[in-house]
Amino acid sequence: MISIQMQDALNQQIVLEGYASFLYLSMASWCDHKGLPGCAQFMHRQSDEERVHMLKIFHYISEVDGFARSPEIKQPPHEFESIVELFEMVFAHEQKVTAAINHLVDLSIKENDHTTLNFLQWYVMEQREEEAQMRFILDRIKLIGDGPQCLYYIDKEVEEINKKAAKAPATAV
Ligand code: FEO
Repeated sequence: MISIQMQDALNQQIVLEGYASFLYLSMASWCDHKGLPGCAQFMHRQSDEERVHMLKIFHYISEVDGFARSPEIKQPPHEFESIVELFEMVFAHEQKVTAAINHLVDLSIKENDHTTLNFLQWYVMEQREEEAQMRFILDRIKLIGDGPQCLYYIDKEVEEINKKAAKAPATAV
C-alpha cells in the first residue's frame, strides 16, 4: 500500500509521461509533413515509449493497492520553428521528466517506501539514456548545421538511430 501523497505524485507523473507521448506524436506529424521520415519514425517510437512509461506507472499504482487516474492531457503544439527547436524542446521536456522522477525518488526515501524506490530505479536509468540520446542528436545537428541543405543529412543520422533501436529488445509494460 502506498501513501496518498505518493499515489498523487505518481498520478502526476502519469500526466507528464502522457503529455510526452502526445507531444512526440505531434512532432512525428510535423516531421512527416516536412519530408523527414527518419525523424518522424524516431518521434513515433518515442511517443510509443512514453505511453509505455505512463502505463507502467498506471499498473504499478494498481498493483500496490492505489488508485491510478487516467490523465487529462493538454493540447501539445503542432508547429515548430525548425528541427533544432523541435529536438531542443524534446530535450527540455526530458529534463523536466528527470526532475520529476528525482522528486519521486526523494519522496520514496522520505517515506521509507522501498517498493516504490525500487520501482523507480528503472525510470532513473531510462532518463539517463534518453537525455544522453537527445544530447547526441543535438550535438550532431550542431556539427551538420540546420539549414535547408542539412536537413537530409540530419534525417539520415536519426535514421541510423532508428536502425539500432529496431535491433534492441522491446520494453514490456
Ligand atoms: Fe518517460 Fe522520456 O520520459
